[in-house]
Amino acid sequence: MRILIVDDSPLICRQINEIINSMEMNWEIWMVDTGEKAIELIDKNDIDIVFLDIVLPGISGFDVLKFVRRIKEYGDVYVIVMTSLDDDEVIKESFSLGANDFIRKPINQVELTYRLRAAVRLRNYQYLYKSALNDLQEKNKELIELTKKLKETQDVLIQNEKMSAIGQLAAGIAHEINNPLGFVITNIETLGKYIEKFKKIIEEYDKVSKSICSDNQIDMEGVIENCKRISELKKQLKFDFMVEDIDQLLDETMDGLRRVSHIVQSLKRFARSGLDGQASYEDLNDIIEETLLIARNELKYDIEVIKEYGEIRQIYCNRGEIGQVILNILINAAQAIKSQPNRTQKSHIWIKTWEDSDFVYCSIKDDGPGIKRIYLNKIFEPFFTTKDVGKGTGLGLSISYDIIVNKHGGDIWAESEEGSGATFVFKLPIRSKLLENQI
Ligand SMILES: Nc1ncnc2c1ncn2[C@@H]1O[C@H](COP(=O)(O)OP(=O)(O)OP(=O)(O)O)[C@@H](O)[C@H]1O
Ligand SMILES: [Mg+2]
Repeated sequence: MRILIVDDSPLICRQINEIINSMEMNWEIWMVDTGEKAIELIDKNDIDIVFLDIVLPGISGFDVLKFVRRIKEYGDVYVIVMTSLDDDEVIKESFSLGANDFIRKPINQVELTYRLRAAVRLRNYQYLYKSALNDLQEKNKELIELTKKLKETQDVLIQNEKMSAIGQLAAGIAHEINNPLGFVITNIETLGKYIEKFKKIIEEYDKVSKSICSDNQIDMEGVIENCKRISELKKQLKFDFMVEDIDQLLDETMDGLRRVSHIVQSLKRFARSGLDGQASYEDLNDIIEETLLIARNELKYDIEVIKEYGEIRQIYCNRGEIGQVILNILINAAQAIKSQPNRTQKSHIWIKTWEDSDFVYCSIKDDGPGIKRIYLNKIFEPFFTTKDVGKGTGLGLSISYDIIVNKHGGDIWAESEEGSGATFVFKLPIRSKLLENQI
């Protein structure tokens, strides 16, 4: 503590000094005999407590008090005014100018000791309060800094979210185009092989026709021999199967290309108006048949499809989108079945449709490996996939969910026991919300 005694009486200064020293607190003590010296000292040193006489040569104790209270930095200085016993007016004036306490002269040791202790206690509290306030201001600064950083992070996250939504959209489109494109490429490869075989057969016919035209005499035996050879070649190259298959391959390929073109057109429409595709009254059994044709390449050799179509009413829906859902489920089933390399028994997919008063239903069941229980509630989440990197994007079912639930007001779910296949069921409302939106 730094204590200043201001009194023009050396006797009083000494007396107070002795009392303070007797408290053995090791405080610093200054003594001055004028108001001017007091102000100078307060200005230069961090004085905590002032014992202030009012009647001084030069400026008065009141003037010192006014100075101390006017300047903010000294605002906390604790001022104890010293007055004569009968000087109540001075006490009143001192308090109105900002004095903290008073003691009367002649000085009483006990009174001064306790008043000084009270002053010291208050100064200590003020120091504590100041340091707590400083801490608080520091913390506040940190908090402002942190909030700023948080806001920046949030902006980055929102930006990332936007980017990932764009990425998701792009991946979804890539996925939708990739399926038809996949079987178009396979079909064209097969057609290429067929053309090679046809060329071989035509070359043989060419040889025969040339031999008939160039000889004046026709070697019938030779011709018959050549025809037999051609017939053998045709058998060997499975000519009849190729002829039958070509039409189907071309139909499928055209379907695939139309599908890609349809996607591109819907995309254009989507970009223009925010509407994706048009709705109309459709027969779900028809859509399934059409989709089976498209998925034929994935299913054709080793999977038997068993259909059980119910008599169902037409539904108001987006045909392309519902087809996409069925295709996703069928391709997942085929991929699941093909993921069992050691499988010996034949594979099946059962497709069933039925209706009740409000909905038409479709279930697609396979006898593949099934879905682990822990994955069952994750498979409709975007990007959830158990397939190898590059094989599955994990978007097929999340897109399907969006189409059935959000766009058509239906529902889709999966049932599965690990090891005994999976069943996907979806239902579509007879009175679609698409229709209500249109009305
Ligand atoms: N019939 C099924 N049998 C077993 N698991 C399945 C079946 N259908 C879906 N799943 C599981 O659900 C996951 C998610 O399927 P989803 O169609 O959403 O994505 P994906 O097939 O992995 O990739 P993408 O369809 O984007 O190519 C699959 O990775 C698979 O683990
Ligand atoms: Mg899939």
